[in-house]
Amino acid sequence: MSADTSTTKFRHNTADNQVSHHTKLDNSFYCIKSMQWLLVIGIIVLLYSSLVGLLNILFPEKHLDWDNINTDVLNFPETFTWGVATAAHQIEGHNVNNWTQFEDRENKESSGSACDHWNRWQDDHNLLVELGVSSYRFSIEWSRIEPNQGDWNEDAIQVYSDMIDSLISKGIEPMITLHHFSHPIWFEEKGGFYQQQNISYFVDYCSRIFPYFSDRVNKWCTVNEPDVFSIMGYHMGMFPPGLRSPLKAIRVMKNVMVAHGEVYHRLKHLNPNSYVGLAKNVTIFDPYRRWNLLHWLTTFALNYIWNGAIISALSRGKMYGKSVTKVKNSADFIGLNYYTHVLTSPFLPQTTEIDLPSRSHETVTEFGYPMYAEGLERATKWLNKLAIPIEITENGVADGEDSLRPTHLKRHLWVIADLIAKGVDIRSYYHWSLMDNFEWAEGYSMRFGLYHVDYENQQRTLRNSGKTYQQIISRHNK
Ligand code: BGC
Repeated sequence: MSADTSTTKFRHNTADNQVSHHTKLDNSFYCIKSMQWLLVIGIIVLLYSSLVGLLNILFPEKHLDWDNINTDVLNFPETFTWGVATAAHQIEGHNVNNWTQFEDRENKESSGSACDHWNRWQDDHNLLVELGVSSYRFSIEWSRIEPNQGDWNEDAIQVYSDMIDSLISKGIEPMITLHHFSHPIWFEEKGGFYQQQNISYFVDYCSRIFPYFSDRVNKWCTVNEPDVFSIMGYHMGMFPPGLRSPLKAIRVMKNVMVAHGEVYHRLKHLNPNSYVGLAKNVTIFDPYRRWNLLHWLTTFALNYIWNGAIISALSRGKMYGKSVTKVKNSADFIGLNYYTHVLTSPFLPQTTEIDLPSRSHETVTEFGYPMYAEGLERATKWLNKLAIPIEITENGVADGEDSLRPTHLKRHLWVIADLIAKGVDIRSYYHWSLMDNFEWAEGYSMRFGLYHVDYENQQRTLRNSGKTYQQIISRHNK
């Protein structure tokens, strides 16, 4: 081998070695880089799953195994109040208010004669007796009492007064709601609860009407569902005035709570012994996909807007970062209207006409939302923060065929009995509703009654679920 050849070989070898050395370095560099990336991704995945795991542990979506629960065994204390609920505009017929105006303007199904309760209330009171309830929650219609501003209709006041006497003579305790979604057109045209300066009209109306009845009526609900009223009317556009602005809805909700606070103090001043509260709809929001943080974020936001803000107003005098001082501690009881939970994602339907999602094992009711009695327990957890008695002012189901209502009723009562046994201060249950009635945006298509109503001839017929309720009440009233 010549010296030249060996030098060339040596050079080649050195060059090869250098190349392979560089390649090795490059490879290990890329290896380290990708390991770093893998590590970063791993940490992100770990953090994400720990966070989601923690949220799942902290906020479980409770589901009971109903097949193994005997809902026929229900134990309630003797002092428990059994009731049913209605609202003026849904049953009375021929009102002239913000709702009738909206029904006409939006070409909605007209409430018309509704259940013609204004003319048939004596007979309807007999239905209460037939059921055996000891209390009846109903609302008085502001637009009948003050159809024009400052113009007081004594005849209408007398009819409500007669209703109260009739109930008492039958041993049924009245619970009056002062505002259940409807009010006079003159009030609506001034801007309703959207304008803060209008709150005084409502407060004056309540203070004026209260002394007519307060000698005989102890239980008062100032307003029904400030949450539903404002969100359906000002954000979802499905209640009057039909607007679609979340900010307006929040403003109205706040004003309604301020109105509640003012009315509470006025009524307590007029009669310190009366028992005054409001009916709060607690809807539970749960993330649709429990691994999706965006669904969790939406859930937290909605739970705060719908439930947390009102609880915070009542417990801390603060709502949406603003002070509502007179609202703090302005309730002797909290009325709970409970219907369902809503599975939430950032793309929630903007109208109730779209079917809401449900878990595969859940029964979907006619309204499109799931039957979820377990949520009632979770709802009371929100309300327990107030440390005042809970009255279940509404609970029921749209079920024209009456195929779900018996089960629905028994499951919810089972949860309530269980809560009472665990020490939660629940004093009453008012089933929604005594009879089928005008279901707001859904018109007459949804039937919530323990009594079926034939709107052709206004005949009322007790459903099987009504009989079930009747039996439960009579078993406990012995
Ligand atoms: C309202 C009732 C209504 C019921 C059933 C509640 O939010 O207070 O007026 O009929 O839900 O949808």
